[in-house]
Amino acid sequence: MDRNPGKIVVLTGAGVSAESGLGTFRDKGGVWTRYDLNEVATPEGFRRDPNKVHDFYNARRRNAAGAKPNAAHAALARLERDYPGEVVVITQNVDSLHEAAGTAAIHMHGRLDRATCASCGAGWDAPMEMHAADPCPVCSEPSTRPDVVWFGEVPHALDEIAGHLDAAAVFAAIGTSGQVHPAAGFVSEARRAGARTIEINLAPSEISDLFHERIEGPATQSVPLWVERLLSA
Ligand code: OAD
Repeated sequence: MDRNPGKIVVLTGAGVSAESGLGTFRDKGGVWTRYDLNEVATPEGFRRDPNKVHDFYNARRRNAAGAKPNAAHAALARLERDYPGEVVVITQNVDSLHEAAGTAAIHMHGRLDRATCASCGAGWDAPMEMHAADPCPVCSEPSTRPDVVWFGEVPHALDEIAGHLDAAAVFAAIGTSGQVHPAAGFVSEARRAGARTIEINLAPSEISDLFHERIEGPATQSVPLWVERLLSA
């Protein structure tokens, strides 16, 4: 093992949770092939029909609550625990499977198990079912919403993430299609900072060419192998 182990920054997407039974967005049969994202994942859609949006996220919250972390989540938790340098996991996923496996991930697109108030900005643990008429527990306004980032909104923690990318020695993108910015641009930011970049995905993504290296295969197999390689280097 290198005596000055560099920082490892990992970006995960829906593919890391696919083998836990949570659907991806853009694969065959994915969420955005069944729902119109303009209706359920934009501030305008929420203004038009808040109950429709709540119903969508209530169903996703129920699904996510029944899911268990898989071998890919566990391998990343092992990497964080056993690697002598810093490991940062950034996820676009709104499920809490990284946490269930023991990793405190940066949730750039928010979390299904958190709620927020669009009026006063308060945050709290989301109940399993949310409705448009629910009053905010702090200001009582009926402006509660899932604490998830919608299209047209700014993702969470971008300054913190930029700092991590700038200091990365290794950047890995796991199970993400590279179609949604700003996350799709992280590989270029990490490369500019001098990181070695690797994509781990079931299939080539839109941005595969931007990476130094690719591992193709299901996350439950390829992530544990990659982690083993890093820890035995
Ligand atoms: P996508 O559905 O766009 O992409 C999923 C990726 O995972 C694809 O590249 C698949 O090839 C890959 N994949 C599928 N199964 C896999 C497996 N078992 N092992 C490894 N890879 C696998 O999902 P994301 O890239 O996460 O944002 O989507 C990014 C954002 O778009 C989401 O966070 C969400 C969505 O709209 C918001 O809702 C704001």
